[in-house]
Amino acid sequence: MTSRSQNPAGRPPGFVYRETKRGILRWGGQSILHCEDVSLPKLAAKYGTPLYVYSAAMIRERYDAFDAAFRDVPHAICYSVKANSNLSILRLLARKGCGFDVVSGGELERVLTADRKAAKKVVFSGVGKTREELSSALKAGIMLFNVESESELWALAECAGRLRSTAPVALRVNPDVAAKTHPYISTGLHKHKFGVPISEARALYAKASGARYLKVRGASVHIGSQITDVAPFGEAMARVADLVRELRADGHNIDYIDAGGGLGIAYEKPNPLEFSGYVATYARALAAPLRGLDVQLLLEPGRSIVGPAGVLLTSVIYRKENDGKRFLVVDAAMNDLIRPALYGAYHEIVSVTYGTDAATKSEVSDIVGPVCETGDFFARDRELPAVSEGDLLAILDAGAYGMVLASNYNTRPRAAEVLITGKSAKVIRRREKLQDLLRAEL
Ligand code: LLP
Repeated sequence: MTSRSQNPAGRPPGFVYRETKRGILRWGGQSILHCEDVSLPKLAAKYGTPLYVYSAAMIRERYDAFDAAFRDVPHAICYSVKANSNLSILRLLARKGCGFDVVSGGELERVLTADRKAAKKVVFSGVGKTREELSSALKAGIMLFNVESESELWALAECAGRLRSTAPVALRVNPDVAAKTHPYISTGLHKHKFGVPISEARALYAKASGARYLKVRGASVHIGSQITDVAPFGEAMARVADLVRELRADGHNIDYIDAGGGLGIAYEKPNPLEFSGYVATYARALAAPLRGLDVQLLLEPGRSIVGPAGVLLTSVIYRKENDGKRFLVVDAAMNDLIRPALYGAYHEIVSVTYGTDAATKSEVSDIVGPVCETGDFFARDRELPAVSEGDLLAILDAGAYGMVLASNYNTRPRAAEVLITGKSAKVIRRREKLQDLLRAEL
């Protein structure tokens, strides 16, 4: 077995293997996955599994890299709350001056709970905002409503009128740009439910600017998620930039272009570029079409900030073999992380401890959860060093769209979440109890 100290399967700086010397520490003679300075077996012993573990350093580092990549362009980062909406993570980002992209009244409430003052840095997206949600956002005084239909425009005007306030508006346009990603998370084609067709945008802007309680402020776009080729982002931006020139010629005031989110991460193969280099190519693709436009660029990254900064830690309950097919049944399930079941998504899975001397043989198995569905798997025919019942596995890149998509299917309480900062571990969401699940029904 090769040494893991070079972290071939780690996610530095958050998740790294550390070798301990035989006989000196309890885990002598082993290479152990750590989150910052905390060993994952210690976390599992203290907080149980399944457990979401996040690295604060890594979230900060990725946010800083993102911000630095756009330093030559007036910009604001509005972290997409849907990727991971834990209050402590929102607070961490708010302290760095980050804004937020929300898609529901619930997400807005989370942002306000994390930081009351963040409201003025909030953009509100989504195809089905209710009047109640629009009104709460108006009362909170958010920065921008990304309106997705004419009906929504009139609903917003009505709510603003009732509150005697003015709603800052951008239309989310659908640029009809294809991006290579899973069909469920591609959004930029006319067949998708999102936005208004770019060809109809001018007419709608004209209507919006005539409405007393609306103020046109920008244009927005979002073409999909987990997109690793930056070309489609540039293409979409070029179309929006053309639209903005037309809108200005029509007399509209356009201060913002919201580029949405969607920058993908390397789930399968490590990206040859450091994140800072990768996000710089993204920044160049977005910035080029905007040259000379004098607008503030809004960015809504989610996954690229938090995805690699989290793992789902799980224990092997049983080893099992059916006619030569091997399974590792773990205590996490599709209710904890649904991405493999829902999108056929790949997540790297690593053994948390490796013996550094013994040559460990590897095995091919399906890694599955206890839920009664064939779709409840994390990996199929995956090669891993042989592990025993009770051993720990880490499912990597689970920081985005992991816990936020968790459910109580099979009456399984949701996992706890811990945030690591250096040597300290903080429970940022306690493990659910069965009573929590039953309470609303009693
Ligand atoms: N802005 C808007 C308007 C969005 O719809 C989204 C994601 C984002 C920003 C953030 O995109 P990101 O930077 O995270 O790619 N559950 C799926 C992903 C769904 C994404 C939905 N919208 C998954 O697990 O892959």
